[in-house]
Amino acid sequence: MKTLLIVYHTGGVKTATMAEAVERGAMEGSRDAHGGTGVKVVVKRCADAGPEDLLAADGVILGTPENFGYMSGMMKDFLERVFYACEGKVNGRPYALFVGAGQDGHGAVTSVERIVTGLRLEKKAEPVIGLKELTPEVLDQCEELGAAFAAGLSMGVF
Ligand SMILES: Cc1cc2nc3c(=O)[nH]c(=O)nc-3n(C[C@H](O)[C@H](O)[C@H](O)COP(=O)(O)O)c2cc1C
Repeated sequence: MKTLLIVYHTGGVKTATMAEAVERGAMEGSRDAHGGTGVKVVVKRCADAGPEDLLAADGVILGTPENFGYMSGMMKDFLERVFYACEGKVNGRPYALFVGAGQDGHGAVTSVERIVTGLRLEKKAEPVIGLKELTPEVLDQCEELGAAFAAGLSMGVF
């Protein structure tokens, strides 16, 4: 069975709400034709996750707020802690990203993409950026992201 890691930070509730929607979608997308589960979905906060989680995952979806035009400090801390332990060991594994932001979000996207490119993870979807108040549309995008990602892992198309 494949393992999908969803690892995120939230300073409040927004990115956590997005993470819940990504997880819902992933649970749905991981069902195989017989209703069984083809993908184990693991959800962790950045503070609780480490290199062992990334090494054990066949794919990862990262979630972070944008703070000061960058990813959150806790996401950066997670990536710093996993970088050398995982460098060269996760090449080609798929990743996707969601960002909770006030009015921009692109600084968080760019900063995460630069680091995960260094880990040779492969982007499999455009990032979902939730601006201002969360809308049902953004939560739908999060669910779709999780569902498509889990389905891709389950069917072995990644
Ligand atoms: C210290 C701090 C810095 C922030 N910097 C930015 C920023 O640079 N760009 C932006 O769009 N939003 C910024 N915001 C707004 C947050 O990204 C936004 O409120 C986000 O939804 C918080 O997500 P959370 O509830 O999961 O913590 C900032 C918020 C805080 C507290």
